Amino acid sequence: MSTTTTTTTQAPKAFKEGKATFGERFETKDLITFDENTVYNDWRDEFHKNGCVVIKNVISKERAQYYADKQIQWLKNFELGFDEKDPSTWTADHLPVSFKGGMYFLYGSAHEKISWEARMEPAVRDIFTKLWGTNELITSFDGMNISMPKRTDIQWSPWPHCDQNPRRKGANIDPSSSSMQAVQGLLNYSPNGENDGGLMLMKGSARLFNEFFAEKRDSADHEDAPPPEIEFMDLFLFSKKDVKWFEDRGCELVKINMEPGDFVLWDSRTMHYAKFPEGDQIRNVQYICMTPRQFADDEALAAKKWCFENYVGTTHWPHCNVRATAEKPMRNGEVCPKYRTEPFEKPEVTDDMLRLAGVLPYQ
Ligand SMILES: [Fe+2]
Repeated sequence: MSTTTTTTTQAPKAFKEGKATFGERFETKDLITFDENTVYNDWRDEFHKNGCVVIKNVISKERAQYYADKQIQWLKNFELGFDEKDPSTWTADHLPVSFKGGMYFLYGSAHEKISWEARMEPAVRDIFTKLWGTNELITSFDGMNISMPKRTDIQWSPWPHCDQNPRRKGANIDPSSSSMQAVQGLLNYSPNGENDGGLMLMKGSARLFNEFFAEKRDSADHEDAPPPEIEFMDLFLFSKKDVKWFEDRGCELVKINMEPGDFVLWDSRTMHYAKFPEGDQIRNVQYICMTPRQFADDEALAAKKWCFENYVGTTHWPHCNVRATAEKPMRNGEVCPKYRTEPFEKPEVTDDMLRLAGVLPYQ
């Protein structure tokens, strides 16, 4: 772990005092059900079988390169001496504060123009439209992942987890029942193979979510586990024993290798983590998650509006447990001198974007 941590700022005035998460809910009913017998003849068949799927060539390689270049420029905008061609500068001192060596959620990053451009890509929205069966979607305000390989200035350990609270089991304890409530995704900008950074997924684990959590389970003690006051409502860390539990039931931990422009989608009940990059390739990723607006209540929508208007990020969850990522980045015990609350390059706001942000209704 690097020497950087974060600390919580005072909640904004519009928010209830001391509260970090809004639209707090742990559904015990199915938000959506899928007919097990439906054959889609597209990526949805694999997604519903395994809880995850790679969708190829969602954007062009040229478009992916545009995003990768812009992400590198974003790191350079901090003027900390980072040079993408000089690995000696690939250290925390030369980079903005991140989580797990490359996940950026602070400094207004969730609302950079490139983050919004990625969410607004028609083919990206089309994925979630097909998945949920509606185009009336709202997006999370997720961050980016820009990971330099072979970092020696950070300690790193795998952290298999899922981003769905164990209380969200849906209505039916039958393992085949769908308690799918959120689906995460990432748009990939740089090539990644077996040794490069990338997503690790426990294929098939989403369908065993209800069975695994039918008994009381304790989230694993991990060096990167967020402190309770951070209020991550939808996070469970798995122990080695838990990993084995899933493997014993036929699940397989796989490294997802992708080309620029590919998109990977995974049910939030799926065990996953990012692999430490050991090759030579920089990883460039935008996390994107969308769910139907109808899943959100008024409190969640009000929180999203505040986050949007203040360039504040959220977790993966678009429609509930909206947690404002309003911390200040901490560098060696001090607020990072490069702390900022606005993007370097702001998005051009349109009504279409405001609908996707949850600020405007669809009708
Ligand atoms: Fe995650």
